[in-house]
Amino acid sequence: MKLLAYSVREDERKFFEVYGKKYGIEVVMKKEAPSLANADHMEGCNCVSVITTPVNRDLICQWKKAGIRHISTRTVGFDHIDCEAAKEMGITVSNVSYSPYSVADYTVMLILMAVRKMGIIMKRYMVQDFGLKDVQGREIRNLTIGVVGTGKIGETVISHLKGFGCKIYAYDLYEKDHVKDMAEYVSLETLLQQSDIITLHAPSTRESYHMINRDSIAQMKDGVILVNTARGSLIDTEALIEGLESGKVGAAALDVLEDEQRIYYKDYKSTNIHHRQMAVLANTPGVIMTPHTAFFTDQAVSDMVEYSIRSCKNGLEGIEDPFQIKI
Ligand code: COI
Repeated sequence: MKLLAYSVREDERKFFEVYGKKYGIEVVMKKEAPSLANADHMEGCNCVSVITTPVNRDLICQWKKAGIRHISTRTVGFDHIDCEAAKEMGITVSNVSYSPYSVADYTVMLILMAVRKMGIIMKRYMVQDFGLKDVQGREIRNLTIGVVGTGKIGETVISHLKGFGCKIYAYDLYEKDHVKDMAEYVSLETLLQQSDIITLHAPSTRESYHMINRDSIAQMKDGVILVNTARGSLIDTEALIEGLESGKVGAAALDVLEDEQRIYYKDYKSTNIHHRQMAVLANTPGVIMTPHTAFFTDQAVSDMVEYSIRSCKNGLEGIEDPFQIKI
């Protein structure tokens, strides 16, 4: 068994070495992302591990010809892979799940930062403006927080928030009994209308595309705070910008953004990012932007690599795998 791991960062290398040995898989690590240009350098591998770069039909077709039988993405989201094409070609696909505390801790941090206007406070401190003007915050215990999506991450966010004593509304198509002990499931409409803070933890699907749009923002409380550590596609960015401009949306904390993929994890210090919405948001007071780093902890990276390798092994051996994507 031989695995070709793409887009491997330095911090992942040691885990590929350790878990490759543990599961008896030879691992070829490449820094580059997968592309048609490198699809004919498969070095005798029969499975691949990718992150968020697009894996489309043409690429899968090339991989099929080269003998690839399993594709694993070491991410929770798998919207970047054409799973239907893979299925047609008899290639199995899996994702991973990793410590939900990585994203959940970060989400709570963003909620606190947004509520306490930390983006503004920190920028001002840098220029020695120590005034209190416009930086009064609110106390979480007095607020209602709406959590959209109660998968592992959403559920962990709820359990963290419980300690703050706030009211928590939850929305998901599939309600979990143990979440009901910590939050009240309500309709999406009620959650949108009654929450002071809305945090998104839904997957990116056709149904969830732009679930936060002009109409849904219009239903929200004035001054609502929006937090997104899930996927950029959940929010219609133009509608969010309009909401911020009009004051309807009071603040936003965004670890993800539409069309972030070509920019995040690269250094654009001296280059135009050619992403107007990103530039506008980054310069809007009250908006906190981070470059899709909520997942990035030692534990999460270890889990991502281990579960990706394990799924490849299971996929190649035809062993039932909890992470195999069934479409
Ligand atoms: C995911 O696991 O879906 C993520 O968003 C993390 C990824 C960017 C490495």
